Amino acid sequence: MADLSSPVTSKAGAATLGALPNHVAIIMDGNGRYGQRLGKIRLFGHRQGAKAVSRTVEAAARLGIKHLTLFAFSSENWKRPKDEVDGLMELFAQVLQSERERLHQNGIKVRFIGDLTRFSPQLNQAIAECEELTQNNSHMILNIALNYGGRWDIAQATRALAREVAQGKLSADAIDEAQLKAHLAVSEDVDLLIRTGGEHRISNFLLYQCAYSEFYVTDTLWPDFGRADLEAALAYFASRERRFGMTSAQVQGKAR
Ligand code: IPE
Ligand code: IPE
Ligand code: MG
Repeated sequence: MADLSSPVTSKAGAATLGALPNHVAIIMDGNGRYGQRLGKIRLFGHRQGAKAVSRTVEAAARLGIKHLTLFAFSSENWKRPKDEVDGLMELFAQVLQSERERLHQNGIKVRFIGDLTRFSPQLNQAIAECEELTQNNSHMILNIALNYGGRWDIAQATRALAREVAQGKLSADAIDEAQLKAHLAVSEDVDLLIRTGGEHRISNFLLYQCAYSEFYVTDTLWPDFGRADLEAALAYFASRERRFGMTSAQVQGKAR
């Protein structure tokens, strides 16, 4: 990853992109198909996908995105063949090792969201080290979703709230949307959800946080994704009128 303090060089730089989303979330899909189309194993696609992660994190940070959440492994992905799951675990450990210093140098705070208890002690150690190293950075917050499921997230937040009620710290009647949100793994609403690989589904990603996000689906497979694709998604976002239940006239200030 290059130094993010150097100016944006692209023609469609931050200034021309219009309103930027505060929180971008990406379902990084299509790695397996990428490998298979080239007559290689699916893991080849995952390895190329790791390079796209690096490119995209750098581009997002340069363009001024404040929160980026990447779906790297879902709570359902354990159902895949063992050699693919094992290969992915190995890849996560390698990428963490090779990228963490550069992420830190570039002021990125890395957080891992999901049920991490199922991962090996070694991977948990690498995760903890990366989070600790980058904890005081503030240029961009990067959430990596590992063994993450939106239903798991809502269940774990509910458990945490129930515990506070049982301990007498919170009254049941005080539980509202803001309380629930504050206990989720990521509390920021998603403004723009990108899915590569062409599928129009959420696959148990940030269910609560995507209540009002704009969806951008591209047929591009994740290993082919890069800065130009991110800019296309941001341009799409900037072209949307976000109405949040209101009328268009209301949003444009032409009616009450
Ligand atoms: C997404 O790519 C990466 C993970 C789920 C880990 P896929 O591996 O799902 O790729 P396709 O959808 O099979 O092509
Ligand atoms: C979603 O992709 C999970 C990740 C990108 C990590 P999947 O490939 O697992 O989604 P489905 O199974 O096609 O819905
Ligand atoms: Mg897939």
